[in-house]
Amino acid sequence: MSGWSGKSVLVTGGGSGLGRAMAQRFAAEGAAVVVLGRREEPLLESVALIERAGGRGFAVTCDVRDPEQVQAAIAFTADRAGRLDVLVNNAAGNFICPSEQLSPNGFKSVVDIVLNGGFNCSRFAFEHLRRVRGVILNIVATYAWLAEPGVVHSAAAKAGLLAMTRTLAAEWGQFGIRVNAVAPGPIHTEGTDKNLWVAPELEQAMVRGIPLGRIGQPSDVAEAALWLCGEQAAWVSGTCLTVDGGQWLSGGVYNFRTAYERFAGKG
Ligand code: COA
Repeated sequence: MSGWSGKSVLVTGGGSGLGRAMAQRFAAEGAAVVVLGRREEPLLESVALIERAGGRGFAVTCDVRDPEQVQAAIAFTADRAGRLDVLVNNAAGNFICPSEQLSPNGFKSVVDIVLNGGFNCSRFAFEHLRRVRGVILNIVATYAWLAEPGVVHSAAAKAGLLAMTRTLAAEWGQFGIRVNAVAPGPIHTEGTDKNLWVAPELEQAMVRGIPLGRIGQPSDVAEAALWLCGEQAAWVSGTCLTVDGGQWLSGGVYNFRTAYERFAGKG
């Protein structure tokens, strides 16, 4: 029996992309997994994939920006799964927009989802996590400490989430709660394909800047998440594990926008 059997994991934004991959990975190890998101349909697809593979999955619709909905969703999770061992703050919104054209509401919407949503979930998960000396994992981005032209809203929000990772690790360590982050590099998912990969040709330019010579896969992040949230990482807290093939070492920005402009001869 694996160390995950009898445990439960809540993944926000679990209806697609990295969230779905992480949910499937935890479920494959025997954890009961609750996927949370705004739209029911993709959540039910995640649950179906988990169940088809022999795992236990549940869906809960919730907008992480709304504290009351979050409180109810976490109560649902604890009720369905009996406990809450791991919270993965993965829900995000992103799009490329030059900062001088971004509306205040566009900036606010992304910060609300990523940063305020991350706090709402952590805040209401606290009592459950304290009971079992649980774990919080925040999904950030390397541009939280570097830069990425065209996504100031997401960069600011992820930087805040990274600060929250360290602060909560320092504050809640006394309760046995570990808080860590993963910073993924460029990865193809439905969401990133739609919102960030503005030109197929961009990939070649991007790969040249990645020492390990390839774009990432959702499973790269899922494996890192599993390790950071598991017993093997029992003395790891307040850290951010970068999973990007070494991209950030070269200055590390994804440069979705500038690479595109350069490619298109506009830069
Ligand atoms: N470029 C510029 N501004 C944009 C935009 C874009 N591509 N997409 C949305 N916005 C702005 C809107 O114009 C609006 O501002 P306004 O009221 O000043 O016009 C503001 O953002 C909110 O948009 P809205 O669609 O009403 O908000 P929402 O809460 O329904 O959606 C988003 C939130 C904007 C983050 C949306 O992209 C989303 O839901 N994303 C989830 C999926 C996702 O992005 N995943 C990440 C994949 S990498």
